[in-house]
Amino acid sequence: MVKKVALLTSGGDAPGMNAAIRAIVRAGLINNLEMYAVFEGFKGLVEDMIKPVDRSFVSEILMRGGTILKTARLKSFNEDEVQNIAVENLKKHGIDALVIIGGDGSYRGGSALAKKGINVIGIPATIDNDVVGTDTTIGFDTALNTITEAVDKLRDTSSSHLRCSIIEVMGNRCGDLALYGGTACGVDLILSPEYRPTDEEIIQKLQDIHHSRSRHALVLVSEKLFPNIQDFGVLVREKTGFDTTVEILGRIQRGGSPTASDRVLAARFGVHAIEVIVKGKKNRVIGITNGEVKDYDIDRAERRSYIKTEELIGVISTLK
Ligand code: F6P
Repeated sequence: MVKKVALLTSGGDAPGMNAAIRAIVRAGLINNLEMYAVFEGFKGLVEDMIKPVDRSFVSEILMRGGTILKTARLKSFNEDEVQNIAVENLKKHGIDALVIIGGDGSYRGGSALAKKGINVIGIPATIDNDVVGTDTTIGFDTALNTITEAVDKLRDTSSSHLRCSIIEVMGNRCGDLALYGGTACGVDLILSPEYRPTDEEIIQKLQDIHHSRSRHALVLVSEKLFPNIQDFGVLVREKTGFDTTVEILGRIQRGGSPTASDRVLAARFGVHAIEVIVKGKKNRVIGITNGEVKDYDIDRAERRSYIKTEELIGVISTLK
């Protein structure tokens, strides 16, 4: 019989994490569970920053970006002894289940705890949209809208100066933010891990735009695709003659009030997580597939694509 449930946020923050915290705490309390917050992610498990929370703890947070629980990346959490301290602290408080809100790195930590006997439930939240077992993650839609707004603004100045604007977005080796953002903004070229023409092809395309049509160009690039994005900007300037600027959107993509879509997703995931716990299921990750919220074994979830990447690349090619 589950009585006490703890929750934490981990890894890079994502808009909608607070909406998920609210949903989990409220759904837990309604099901007569005692709810506990762990502060600062896995660090809080190790340093025993675990506190009981009530309904008012999650009031007025639905619309706020970031995470009221704070978050951290704890490299030492892959060490056995560090994991054991976390397990001891959870046992000390009598915690029966732990809900982890985060990305794939957080799931790895969760999986390690599950192997040590803790009932772990994962909720996917990261702007990168790169978590197994779900078509989309909490935070992706908000980040996509932030990128769209930023690129629309950059278009104004880029077109006024007839420049080539190279814009780097996040994604951590997943191209969804670049592919979806690029499609939403109708940019001239998208470069992502899934779609990476050769340097010669890139230069050729930008030369064509610069010479024949005498206009500006927008290029959206996934982070970590080039060893140094500034060097890539220099190459483009030298080879094409385009007045070229490089803009790195950076962590601004992680901030802001979550979109309605992310809030609804967070509410659905949070309520489903508590249902899973109440039903007595163990070690599950929550996801949405074809519009349906489901749960999978923490070690068996498979990556699915929101819209199949190949289809999206087809759409991008058709519209060029
Ligand atoms: O995982 C989310 C993310 O925002 C990635 O897109 C990015 O590579 C990384 O986090 C940056 O993390 P940090 O803010 O810890 O440097």
